[in-house]
Amino acid sequence: MRGIGKVSLIGAGPGDPDLLTVKALKRIQDAEVVVYDRLVSQEIMDLVPPKTALYPVGKKPKSHPIPQEEINQLLVDLAKEGKRVVRLKGGDPFIFGRGSEEAAELVIAGVDYEVVPGITAAQGCASSLNLPLTHRGLATGLRYVTGHCQKDVPLDLDWASLADPNTTLVIYMGLAAIAEISTKLVEHGMPADMPAVAISKGTTSEEQKVFGTLTTIGEQAKAAKLPAPTLFMIGDVVGLKDSLELPSFSGSEAKWGDRPHLEVING
Ligand SMILES: C[S@@+](CC[C@H](N)C(=O)[O-])C[C@H]1O[C@@H](n2cnc3c(N)ncnc32)[C@H](O)[C@@H]1O
Repeated sequence: MRGIGKVSLIGAGPGDPDLLTVKALKRIQDAEVVVYDRLVSQEIMDLVPPKTALYPVGKKPKSHPIPQEEINQLLVDLAKEGKRVVRLKGGDPFIFGRGSEEAAELVIAGVDYEVVPGITAAQGCASSLNLPLTHRGLATGLRYVTGHCQKDVPLDLDWASLADPNTTLVIYMGLAAIAEISTKLVEHGMPADMPAVAISKGTTSEEQKVFGTLTTIGEQAKAAKLPAPTLFMIGDVVGLKDSLELPSFSGSEAKWGDRPHLEVING
């Protein structure tokens, strides 16, 4: 009889399979079972060996999500069957990923587990646009915020502290609430013309992005019909776009010297 197995809670990153960690790839290739979310890209699922059992537990559009308790129980049951279980989640399992809820249930059930971090969507999307999340003189801090709220319940966030113009704000799950978020931030003192960008399916071949300002980005994202998953990055760092974007030489006369330069801050 096999002993109790182990669950690896693994971050699959934002979509690009090259952004998986080496440890994540090793665990995926060695897994007997993979329990995965909808946000895990097909290219990453293609790395799972053919004989590995697959359990999709992600919420599909227009269908009911599998209750979290059922997912927790599935992980416990599979591990107790002695399996090497990979629990694969988009981004990082402990950033808006409910990974810690699953870990807590594994502890209660006496199941061994490990956490393998992933590149969170904010980092993946920012780097895909060549944007930093912090930059000396522009952003001294960074906040990840969820824009998700219950239907008909207003978002209950600490608007005064979120409106700090020296902090980059990344809004996860904010497609539905971005207009409300922008209004509240402006009401609490964030400049209305603060640079903002919406990124859909960042780091994948279907990536789309829309640049604007705090007050325009909601309408722009809507007009562009950006599909989920989308996140919003708000802050002066987004204004570095023109300084950090490589010129396109196809049919253009752009020269390196024509480009705006970042001010180098010494000391
Ligand atoms: C439930 S949260 C999961 C976050 C994930 N654990 C992480 O660390 O990135 C889902 C939200 O993440 C953001 N997201 C995830 N992947 C993304 C991507 N490739 N491009 C843009 N946003 C993404 C979206 O805001 C989406 O609504």
